[in-house]
Amino acid sequence: MFNIIITDSYDKVSSEAFRIMKEELKKEAPVLGLATGSSPIGLYKKMIADHNANGTSYDNVTTYNLDEYIGLPREHDQSYWTFMHENLFDQIEMPEENVHLPDGTGTDPEASCRKYEEELSVRQIGLQILGIGSDGHIGFNEPGTPFDSLTHIAELTEQTRRDNARFFDDNIDLVPKESITMGLASIMKAAKIIVIATGRNKADAVYGMIKGPKTEECPASILQDHDDVTVILDEEAAARL
Ligand code: F6R
Repeated sequence: MFNIIITDSYDKVSSEAFRIMKEELKKEAPVLGLATGSSPIGLYKKMIADHNANGTSYDNVTTYNLDEYIGLPREHDQSYWTFMHENLFDQIEMPEENVHLPDGTGTDPEASCRKYEEELSVRQIGLQILGIGSDGHIGFNEPGTPFDSLTHIAELTEQTRRDNARFFDDNIDLVPKESITMGLASIMKAAKIIVIATGRNKADAVYGMIKGPKTEECPASILQDHDDVTVILDEEAAARL
């Protein structure tokens, strides 16, 4: 079931997401599922401002990230490890031992996938933050990914590599071809999910997620089966609803 919130600015979208995040952080040992990309940046900025202003502690918080590129060193400026440390963890004094990301650096990515799914099975994610790709992907689960998938190696489509080339000097050849991603079934285990989407280029994917048929051709449409999803949109992303 979708709870849909439509606002007229990205700042308001981020405030709505932060309101839900604050509730989650009141729990004794919050477990957060986190995403990279541009959609959650405003939320992360609000978490940092709140940490600075109110001293909100992350000592008891555990995080799991959705995905990571294969083949980039952890310290590469475009690795999701670096993204999360620069845009959130380093600024909220997040204890490193509570941080989990898939390991895309090893020689055996299959083993990394199994290990990550085991780590995920230790605790249920209380609040999962998601962005959505213009082709309806969530995590790196591209169209055609089975709904029952767990953490796996995912090939990036041309479209996603083109979308992400802006972070690699606008050079698609520098964008990795594979990633490790939580699967669609792994994502569905979260107790509560927020999807953040803004801009006209997300309108078709948002429509497919909410109103389209439930089909593996639109991976986000699996969320129609989840009972606690809040979709937070600006007017452009909501244009087709
Ligand atoms: C990021 C992720 C991706 C993004 C999606 C939207 O960890 O898993 O699914 O959420 O590609 O990206 P942005 O927010 O940059 O439009």
